[in-house]
Amino acid sequence: MPSEFLKVAEAAARRGGEVLQDWAQRFTVSEKSPKNLVTEADMASEKAIHEIIESSFPDHGFLGEEGLSVSGDSDYRWVIDPLDGTSNYVHHFPYYCVSIALEKSRELIASVIFDPNRDELFTAELGQGAFLNGVSLETTHTDDLMEALVVASLPVAATPHHPAVMRFLDVMPKVQHIQRTGSAALNLAYVASGRLDAYWSTTLKPWDMAAGALIAAEAGGKVSQCNGNKFDIEVPDILASNGTGIHEGMSELLTN
Ligand code: IPD
Ligand code: CA
Ligand code: CA
Repeated sequence: MPSEFLKVAEAAARRGGEVLQDWAQRFTVSEKSPKNLVTEADMASEKAIHEIIESSFPDHGFLGEEGLSVSGDSDYRWVIDPLDGTSNYVHHFPYYCVSIALEKSRELIASVIFDPNRDELFTAELGQGAFLNGVSLETTHTDDLMEALVVASLPVAATPHHPAVMRFLDVMPKVQHIQRTGSAALNLAYVASGRLDAYWSTTLKPWDMAAGALIAAEAGGKVSQCNGNKFDIEVPDILASNGTGIHEGMSELLTN
């Protein structure tokens, strides 16, 4: 039985998704910094999500990408990316999502990621497994990097000599396929779903990875920092994998 937290998170994520699709033919684009885009849809989705969750849990804290910051009066904090994959959204490339996580005393306890283009809702609660539209998820089992599909997130305005780009090129010949797709949260949901074997980034914010980290771990995956240290949403670094030996293999490639 999903908890009340998960039910409210699902309602908020679906509403956020509706707002994104409603704005999709009429948004205007601004740059927060070079190539770091934002639209009215990001803002409107965050507002709608906040309103829904706050009406159920008025004393909870909130952290959202588009300026949402409420310290609250409880141990609970919601970490929200109202549109993960804005550069894709702006180009009508249908790989973006809404990402919502709930922490209790800084531990992730519930997550939803909603892909409004495919009507796919990824959910997880701590210790309860991960699900896609209610069907249990499991990561892949491949333990050979030369059979693995891996994805990385690079900084939006990366230059050719940025360390993350150089690392991406180093990994390229050591895996079967490597992609950069533009939505950290969906990538993590795809590791959980067995659509990807591993995903990493060293340049993320808490809202990019909070929900997906719990979903990937609850699907049987392994989630850590790239060097293998314990995952922490406040550290801009994540390696998520199917939990086989490819985790250590990727960690070695990313830290040596
Ligand atoms: C971005 C995406 C992308 C990652 C960027 C993030 P946004 O989030 O997750 O995959 O490479 O670092 O900023 O800006 O689309 O919410
Ligand atoms: Ca994001
Ligand atoms: Ca965003």
